[in-house]
Amino acid sequence: MNEGEISFLAPKPGDGKGPKKTGEDVFYNTSMKMNRDICISFLNSFAGGKDIRVLDGMAATGVRGLRIFKETSTSKVDINDVSEQAVDLIVKNAKMNSILDSVKISNDSIEKHLIENRYEYDYVDIDPFGTPVPYFSLAARYVSHKGVVGVTATDTSVLCGTYPKTCRRRYSAVPENNWCRHENGLRILIAYCAMEAARHDRWIRPLLSYYEGHHLRTYLQIGEGKKEADLCLEKLERVRFHDGKWDHNRGSQGKMSGPFWTGQLFSKDILEDLMVVGELDEDMISLWIDESGYPPFFYDTNEISSIMKVEPPSMKVLKEKIKDRGFKSSRTHFSPTGIKTNAPFEELESIFLKITS
Ligand SMILES: C[S@@+](CC[C@H](N)C(=O)[O-])C[C@H]1O[C@@H](n2cnc3c(N)ncnc32)[C@H](O)[C@@H]1O
Repeated sequence: MNEGEISFLAPKPGDGKGPKKTGEDVFYNTSMKMNRDICISFLNSFAGGKDIRVLDGMAATGVRGLRIFKETSTSKVDINDVSEQAVDLIVKNAKMNSILDSVKISNDSIEKHLIENRYEYDYVDIDPFGTPVPYFSLAARYVSHKGVVGVTATDTSVLCGTYPKTCRRRYSAVPENNWCRHENGLRILIAYCAMEAARHDRWIRPLLSYYEGHHLRTYLQIGEGKKEADLCLEKLERVRFHDGKWDHNRGSQGKMSGPFWTGQLFSKDILEDLMVVGELDEDMISLWIDESGYPPFFYDTNEISSIMKVEPPSMKVLKEKIKDRGFKSSRTHFSPTGIKTNAPFEELESIFLKITS
């Protein structure tokens, strides 16, 4: 197989058996190629040409770590997996790309590896089957000061509200399965990460966070600092969603969801330095740039139209009208019918009525 600048051996994709567990065949999922393309673009933007120390901690075939070595400025890449079969394959794949002597391959649990190599890494990648909860706390504790932990969560249905009890147990949060579910899920994941980091007197700063396909992903810069950790916890809020909108009023009636991370999902500096890599194209980068900087959550044209019993307006017209009234708006990658805006909801309602009357 080929991906980015490497060739590698992997189990045949699409054998219909779904994700494999440790001890069975080594895992490879072509649909996560974009996740790895974004990882390469992110690391080039974050490292800015510096030689940072990287751990691909749950590597499977090693495709991510090998690509990081080949396609970024870093020459210090450690590739690890708990499965012996995976490590045998990683060795073969490193040989195939003539970089066996350049990368360090290990057969540890990521937990043990992080404890034994504390503060060694400027970037730790956590890419588990399902939830990152068992691994994140150690990564947050032992990544270098101002280093980054890249976290994938594929338990999207839990974070986005299909299994609220599991979400409560796993993330200590009440999810909300509504028009905003993917942003909600991502903000629950980041809130959880902020709470775990704070336990170790560490702060988080999301540099790039998104939803794609069947997973949520966030790149969190993490550092030491009690005051900054306290400030992060102040950014966690419970919210009540109702009638196409949301409010933060604790006194209001109805179910409060969250806690959600209400800080930024992106760093503008990182976004502006992202380069097109594979499936990460200009359109996606521009959309992230457009939607960054808005307050959390978004409105949904279908949701509002159905509440108001009017036809959904075209997104183009809606954006123009919002602009005419002196407000800003952006589409969002979370939903094709979603709109982020600083216009109050009442203003939006009046625009909907005007357009559709
Ligand atoms: C989803 S796969 C990783 C895919 C890979 N990062 C990629 O981009 O193709 C998850 C991997 O985590 C490994 N794993 C599971 N538990 C682990 C642990 N505690 N420590 C290290 N690796 C672990 C599994 O063996 C499996 O290879």
